[in-house]
Amino acid sequence: RNLELEQQLQAHEWTSKLYHFLLKNTEHGKPAMDYLKSRGFTDKAIDTFQIGYAPARWDTLVQFLEKRSFDLGTMEKGGLLSAKQDGTGYVDRFRDRVIFPLHNRNGKVIALAGRVLGEGQPKYLNSPESKLFSKSRTLYNLHQAKSEIRKSRQIILFEGYGDVISAWEAGVHNGVATMGTALTESHAAMMRGLADEIIVCYDGDNAGQAAALKSIPILESIGFNTKIALLSEGLDPDEFIQKYGAERFRHQVLDGAVSSVKFKLIYLKKNHILLEEDGKVAYIKDALEVIAPLPSPTEREIYLKEMSADLQVSFDSLKQECNEMRQAMQ
Ligand code: UTP
Ligand code: MN
Ligand code: MN
Ligand code: MN
Ligand code: MN
Repeated sequence: RNLELEQQLQAHEWTSKLYHFLLKNTEHGKPAMDYLKSRGFTDKAIDTFQIGYAPARWDTLVQFLEKRSFDLGTMEKGGLLSAKQDGTGYVDRFRDRVIFPLHNRNGKVIALAGRVLGEGQPKYLNSPESKLFSKSRTLYNLHQAKSEIRKSRQIILFEGYGDVISAWEAGVHNGVATMGTALTESHAAMMRGLADEIIVCYDGDNAGQAAALKSIPILESIGFNTKIALLSEGLDPDEFIQKYGAERFRHQVLDGAVSSVKFKLIYLKKNHILLEEDGKVAYIKDALEVIAPLPSPTEREIYLKEMSADLQVSFDSLKQECNEMRQAMQ
């Protein structure tokens, strides 16, 4: 069994090299290269992240692996190949897709993610869960980011591959991604060993913002100083960088990341209709539930004062209601 794992690791290493080569050096790879260039990926990024291309044929990888005497059944278990329905053999799992290799924290390739060129479903096809690869325990780019993370004791958490890569091109080298919005406790524990502060930089759409909200208790319960980056217009970090540039990403989005309390208040406010009295009352109640448990009286006062000015409700009545809530909590 150990031998199988060794072979799967070896095959992933070779396969990612093959796909990287095909992207850069062949006619087959040209449309994929054009696609990457149209998205603003540089040659340097393509090399640093070992991006590749899996051709449209069914047997490019089957032939490549066979020639190197890999056992195809083992390769199927590791997720590089799929078994044919009729049981007569194997085909390439990834076809006509841009390939992003996924590494473990030691830099070994353990899985692949394949993106369609343009529109199509699924947008990303990933390796299946296996002994080699567990999505809930893998963070994209951790192997390259970890030295910068250790140095700065800070980590920037993204959703996707493009976000990490564009941020890296923007000079942000401590970025990793959860590969979707499902941050797990294992992810948090892996990161906490390297850093004290985390900036959650999820997509600006509703799904991303909801996931950022859900990440807060997971990160804070493990002791992370947690901030949340706000992205305008529903953009994701990659789109923001392509549209507004590296400077604005670093100085507006990252430096402007807000405290978790502030983020919760902003989030609640967006989800209430404040023009109507009952909406305003409901928002105040939800907001006070965030503010009341804060241990520091000055911190509570700062948020209550902001709310008072913002909503044109007296500070005294907010404070009174906040104190009543605190008492009820004890
Ligand atoms: P997004 O839907 O935000 O995609 O999913 P994206 O990263 O912005 O993709 P581009 O920019 O259109 O290429 C965030 C992440 O969730 C995972 C991927 O890791 C993706 O980067 N995901 C998304 C999948 O695994 N499968 C999917 O079909 C979609
Ligand atoms: Mn290269
Ligand atoms: Mn998203
Ligand atoms: Mn996105
Ligand atoms: Mn994107």
